Amino acid sequence: MTANPSVTPHLDLEAIRADFPILSTMVKGHPLVYLDNAATTQKPRQVIDAIVHYYEEQNANVHRGVHQLSQIATSMYEEGRKKVARFINAGTEREVVFVKGCTEGINLVANSFAAPRLREGDEILITAIEHHSNIVPWQLLCQRTGAKLHIVPVNDLGELILGELDSLLTERTKIASFVHVSNSLGTVNPVREMIARAKAAGVPVVIDGAQAVPHLPVDVQDLDCDFYVFSGHKMFGPTGIGVAYGKAEHLAAMSPWQGGGDMIESVRFEGSTWAQPPARFEAGTPNIEGVAGLSAAIDYIGALGYEAIGAHEHDLLEYGTAELEKIEGLRIIGQAGDKASVISFVLDDIHPHDLGTIVDEEGVAIRTGHHCTQPVMERFGVPATARASLAFYNTRAEIDALVRAIERAISIFR
Ligand code: ALA
Repeated sequence: MTANPSVTPHLDLEAIRADFPILSTMVKGHPLVYLDNAATTQKPRQVIDAIVHYYEEQNANVHRGVHQLSQIATSMYEEGRKKVARFINAGTEREVVFVKGCTEGINLVANSFAAPRLREGDEILITAIEHHSNIVPWQLLCQRTGAKLHIVPVNDLGELILGELDSLLTERTKIASFVHVSNSLGTVNPVREMIARAKAAGVPVVIDGAQAVPHLPVDVQDLDCDFYVFSGHKMFGPTGIGVAYGKAEHLAAMSPWQGGGDMIESVRFEGSTWAQPPARFEAGTPNIEGVAGLSAAIDYIGALGYEAIGAHEHDLLEYGTAELEKIEGLRIIGQAGDKASVISFVLDDIHPHDLGTIVDEEGVAIRTGHHCTQPVMERFGVPATARASLAFYNTRAEIDALVRAIERAISIFR
């Protein structure tokens, strides 16, 4: 697949694509066209090599040994924490907790921060376009505490109706948790403004940044969020590693959610005391190779730069939207003014699953279904959508391949 250099002045797409071994593989006799980046991104050689290097030369448990390998592994792991802190501009690396992924990060905040603050009748505020991972942990908490979930509604374009935000922030609202970028619609929410309005009402805010960090720079101090969570695998790093950023004063006041090794100060049968954050929230042997890979992913993104990534993805979004809209009977779900490179769509008379199966025959990988956002599907009156989610390594030629594959599906089904 050759890149179109005229539209990508800032990224050397051929060199970038050569860094991702999987992008030159074949699927069903066709070059892979990978357009399912919101589900998970592909990994560059640099990330794969960092993990191999860890296992070949550094493997030991962290924080537990005086021997050299353990010191090396610990240093790599803690340098990774510093790198993450710089990546999101945290005030200190002690505000960076390593977790399994965004989902675990939200569950950590729900259980350790929010649960002790909630009483019957209190309110938790989320939005109508959350991923299930930012709905269900709060519902579990509501069941336990008698709190209620309130929802910021969304308009037909897929933009939050922020006119209702202030009235939804009541004296009973104890926490708000907002998605930064919607995985199923692509909407980029104005989280800075939303945070400011929540804080004016005295409400702490969690931001689900899983779909933001692959596309745009995040500065947690500028946002002034209380917590910011994201996953490594959606930003070209490995699965099983993620980050829960929390303001130092919150983390210091929170009890642990999970108990085990490495999160304690002292353990006695009469009772135990906890380590300082972030160790307090990292019970058990952590995902050490995950941190090696995540660190390499941060370096990779840093070398490209978000400006160039954003410019290229914006071009892909505009081109893809225009090309898909030419297809008769195709309707794009999610037309917010500020969108990341995610295009969800439905065809009049072809179920998304059938479409997904046919385009896969052409080597084109898209996701079809509810994208773990069933309330979004309900809001837009569709059972499912087909979704092309684009990353910096995608090309206009790949969008053309998607369009051809959809046209083939139409010729079969219509
Ligand atoms: N949240 C992932 C997606 O959007 C799995 O596909």
